[in-house]
Amino acid sequence: MKSRQQKEKSDFRYNTGDALVPWDAVAVKPDPVLALDILRFLAGPGENTDAYNRALERVKEAVQCLFEHGEPATKLSLGDRVKEVEEFAKSYLDVKHASFLVNWTAGYDIALDMAGVGPGDEVIVPAITFIATASPVLRKGARVIFADVQPETVNLDPKSVERLISDRTKAIVPVHIGGYPVDMDPILEIARAHDIMVIEDAAHGFGGTYKGRKLGAVGDFGAFSFHEVKNITSLGEGGILVSDSDLGAQFPMARFCGFDLESPPPENWLYNVSPIRSKSGFFPATNYSTTEIQAVALLRQMRRNEEITGQRRKVARRMHDAFANIEGLIPGPMNDDTFGATFHLFLLRVKSDVIEGGIQAFKQGLAAKGVTQIAHFCPLYHYDLFKALGYDRDEIRQTCPNAERAFCEEYTHLPVYGLSDERIDYMVNAVLDTAKMLRR
Ligand SMILES: Cc1ncc(COP(=O)(O)O)c(C=O)c1O
Repeated sequence: MKSRQQKEKSDFRYNTGDALVPWDAVAVKPDPVLALDILRFLAGPGENTDAYNRALERVKEAVQCLFEHGEPATKLSLGDRVKEVEEFAKSYLDVKHASFLVNWTAGYDIALDMAGVGPGDEVIVPAITFIATASPVLRKGARVIFADVQPETVNLDPKSVERLISDRTKAIVPVHIGGYPVDMDPILEIARAHDIMVIEDAAHGFGGTYKGRKLGAVGDFGAFSFHEVKNITSLGEGGILVSDSDLGAQFPMARFCGFDLESPPPENWLYNVSPIRSKSGFFPATNYSTTEIQAVALLRQMRRNEEITGQRRKVARRMHDAFANIEGLIPGPMNDDTFGATFHLFLLRVKSDVIEGGIQAFKQGLAAKGVTQIAHFCPLYHYDLFKALGYDRDEIRQTCPNAERAFCEEYTHLPVYGLSDERIDYMVNAVLDTAKMLRR
């Protein structure tokens, strides 16, 4: 364990030499009671049975014993574990810069700032995505420009993007919905031709690939989500922002208030606070720091990511093969050498001219059989937020016919992880039975 004197420069708060009254005396330290509370939370409260109480007693003793022999953590935020997460991400994704932050949205916020997005600018996002892909743009006073999607993946359609470029476009945001890779090459080509930055929403795409590159590492910036419903999680919330751009070297400062330990500090002070350089100027940073506990949880799962994704891919293959030749059903594309989906969600489409009532009736049929619908990707311009901001819903929907048809008639997402073989069989049969029942 490092002594106080061995602490690195970035640990400026501890960098005060040996002291009888150290800096870390300002905060409550982890103790066995806290550790036990966390374990009980994670394991669930349990019934108040004899067996549960005996188990609790045993764990209590073990935790007490561990604390007696260990040296309780004092650095709880932005320490060595957070660095380890970032080193792992850099090597796994083959990128120069990676920063572990509170969530995907925080990473996106920094990427938008670095791309120079400000009042009056435009950012192109797909009509079908989670609201977080749009709201940070609005919060910068910029305008969200909705692009249509490709029916096969429900992902951003490059042809639609091309038509929407204007003098004000500052960024294009391809979203790898469900972990299915966006066709990035034509988007990059358009972006390069117009000097526009590409920010990948790889919230669902950690470990996915496009033409041999990891998703998130293809554009200028990429952000991943480790929220509790993603493929892997840092205990509920978390995100990683990556980039190969020189701007990415500033991620540590951008993630933590612009703290600058390289520039000379003001007289009589410990650190400086610097502006963060963007493509077109600079911006002030805010605080998106993560904790060591989040990092511990994420590291374990990141190291298992290939295994976890492999399991998803197996189930997806099974479901794909079961649906591929069924009249009225179109499963999402399967992986090949250039297209490596993570299958965060399994994309299922129905042909609305074959299935009576289209996807809406289909979803009801599945719900009646107890099959969960992952139901959060409505075209964003349907939300009241956009109406309040003066967006014309009817006008926009005319420009996004694929998104309208996909949402109203064609697509749903199914879960593929952590299900027993019996449950997967049940879900497959529920889909097949529903198709049979609704086929015209
Ligand atoms: C496509 C997409 N983008 C962004 C986000 C936001 O991620 P976070 O909650 O980590 O900010 C989500 C979360 O569900 C998402 O589904």
